[in-house]
Amino acid sequence: MSVDDKNKATTITMLMESEGAEKFDAIKSADAGSAEKSTATGSTGTARKKVNILSRLIEKNMLVPGSALGPDFQDDYRRIKRPLLANACGKNRSMVNRGNLILVTSSIPGEGKTYTSVNLALSIAQEKDITVLLVDCDVAKQGVSRKLGIEKASGLVDVLENDDLDLGDVMLQTDIPNLRLVSAGKHNAYFTELLASQRMASLVDEIVTRYGDRVIIFDGPPLLPTPETQVLAGLVGQVVFVIEAGKTPQSLVEDALEMIPEDQATGLVMNKYEGLSGRGGYYYGYYGPDDDNKS
Ligand SMILES: Nc1ncnc2c1ncn2[C@@H]1O[C@H](COP(=O)(O)OP(=O)(O)OP(=O)(O)O)[C@@H](O)[C@H]1O
Ligand SMILES: [Mg+2]
Repeated sequence: MSVDDKNKATTITMLMESEGAEKFDAIKSADAGSAEKSTATGSTGTARKKVNILSRLIEKNMLVPGSALGPDFQDDYRRIKRPLLANACGKNRSMVNRGNLILVTSSIPGEGKTYTSVNLALSIAQEKDITVLLVDCDVAKQGVSRKLGIEKASGLVDVLENDDLDLGDVMLQTDIPNLRLVSAGKHNAYFTELLASQRMASLVDEIVTRYGDRVIIFDGPPLLPTPETQVLAGLVGQVVFVIEAGKTPQSLVEDALEMIPEDQATGLVMNKYEGLSGRGGYYYGYYGPDDDNKS
């Protein structure tokens, strides 16, 4: 299947458990890029700016009403999100520390991390009473930021570099109910080091304390070329590991999986999978110490 063949876009999932105002002034370039801007809101800790991304998501054929994706695709993402939500805010919540913090990564570039992150965030945002925060952690590629047109907005790097800023200062509201965004922010050649820094660890601690009632999805860099990503994998509660079906060599997948802490709850998403029938279906399985997790 060509990845450009939008109507046939498919995902296979195999989820496996291995287990105030002053601050606002400090935002230097909180221009929300090329995305259509709307109202600014709020007090510290809540998103101040709103970006309209719905029409862009329809155009890019992502998981929103009005796109050309069929019901199978919607179902694929239901299967991906269900165990993640069970660990984040459902029946397994007490068993998975920081289960509401989810890192999306892969072995190598281009396997579909950003595609998965955005669609997963959109799918979870459809849930009643759950607010999703999608954070672009791949500052080199800025996949989420570019896809959603918020690449000029201040974001993660600005917060990491500036003690006067916190995540709430750079958070963007959107016209998708329950979805908030944080862009990658200013380009920084040393971002991979920042990702593994104490400041990043402190920021994640802060997110745990402050946004415990939200699901946070981090679109991360790939593990093998960016080993610092494994530090982030150790800071979150769940990892979604994307594999480009039929393309990524098994040895690379194994090498990358070894970089994820052994007891980390890890879900595997086989992306761009056409299935044995070639119809573009998916295969789903869930393995773990708790058989009740099987769905
Ligand atoms: N299941 C899919 N169906 C259709 N297109 C897809 C699918 N998955 C990914 N793509 C497309 O493949 C390309 C690469 O995907 P994406 O940017 O999500 O990969 P990535 O892992 O984030 O890459 P990078 O490592 O460069 O950030 C994009 O054009 C994306 O739209
Ligand atoms: Mg990406």
